Amino acid sequence: MRKIAIIGAGNVGGQIAAFLIHSAAFKPRPLGRGKVTPLSVSILSKPQSLDRGVEGLIKEGPVDLLLLDVVKGLAKGKALDLEDCASVLRQDCVINGSEDFSLLKDRDIVVLTAGLARKPGMSRDDLLKKNSEIIKDISLKIKEYASGKIVLVITNPVDLMTCLTARITGFPKNKVFGMGVSLDSARFANLIRQELKVPVTGIEAVVIGSHGQAMVPAPNQTQVSGVRIERLVGEGIIAKLARETVERGASIVAHLGSGSAYYGPAAAACDIIKAIIKDEKRVIGICAYLDGQYTIKDLYLGVPARVGKQGVEEVIEIELSENEKKQLVSSAESIRGQLDNLNV
Ligand code: 2OP
Repeated sequence: MRKIAIIGAGNVGGQIAAFLIHSAAFKPRPLGRGKVTPLSVSILSKPQSLDRGVEGLIKEGPVDLLLLDVVKGLAKGKALDLEDCASVLRQDCVINGSEDFSLLKDRDIVVLTAGLARKPGMSRDDLLKKNSEIIKDISLKIKEYASGKIVLVITNPVDLMTCLTARITGFPKNKVFGMGVSLDSARFANLIRQELKVPVTGIEAVVIGSHGQAMVPAPNQTQVSGVRIERLVGEGIIAKLARETVERGASIVAHLGSGSAYYGPAAAACDIIKAIIKDEKRVIGICAYLDGQYTIKDLYLGVPARVGKQGVEEVIEIELSENEKKQLVSSAESIRGQLDNLNV
């Protein structure tokens, strides 16, 4: 359960690969003939953030990565560069790059990052037409070569692209899911950290719904050291933090001028990959198939779910305020409306 294909060797795909390689390196391990030198320990000291995210993959053996991209040479070039990165970090990873999608055959997990990124002024939904063509095409290849494997969708707009991938591949719904609201939750947590000046490790921030303008930050479920945020700061501040969370992706795009965020999305993707590989059965906010949960049926949407080696093992229904419930349902309606226009 550690042969991973990353489709799309752009910024997000490349960074996911780099994090996976790097994460293994954060565990001090024997160099050369088995001695841990003081130098290796000090260089490879382990930051908290990665520790919570992707640390520990090394126990499962070396990571085996395959980068695929239709752009000639791109995946191969990045794979060679990543091999050098792994060598610097003393990791025996297997890393290949290719344009040949039949290589998907021996993969356990397929991570789908292919597609266009936003430009300043664009919403994630503006990518819908172009990216749905790309995803339709790739989903047929996944169906042909990676039947029944776990597919983690990152391409935006992720709720729709996950739905599209599931419909076209026809794979079991628990095997196809997307990354979105765990990133939004991390963004909400970061903003709370800055506002309250508390360590991020004590913050459990919850965002559900679509990974788009209709996302639903849920202060009712958000806690700082076990205390509900509503008891720590006023409504006005919470509303401001929620607004900034929704706008965070667009704000990054506006600053970058070209392309969109990739460190955050890649870290969030690696966190999910780790939960699958290590069969953690951990609850993470993902874009999961809803079959009546939260009164929503036959739709993919961001909710907390238990993730393990079978993929989505359980969708968790958390208690929401009336307002949060209403927002979640309207988030679902907006996704369903767009999905109907896609005709799949
Ligand atoms: C973001 O929110 C790219 O969807 C990604 O930044």
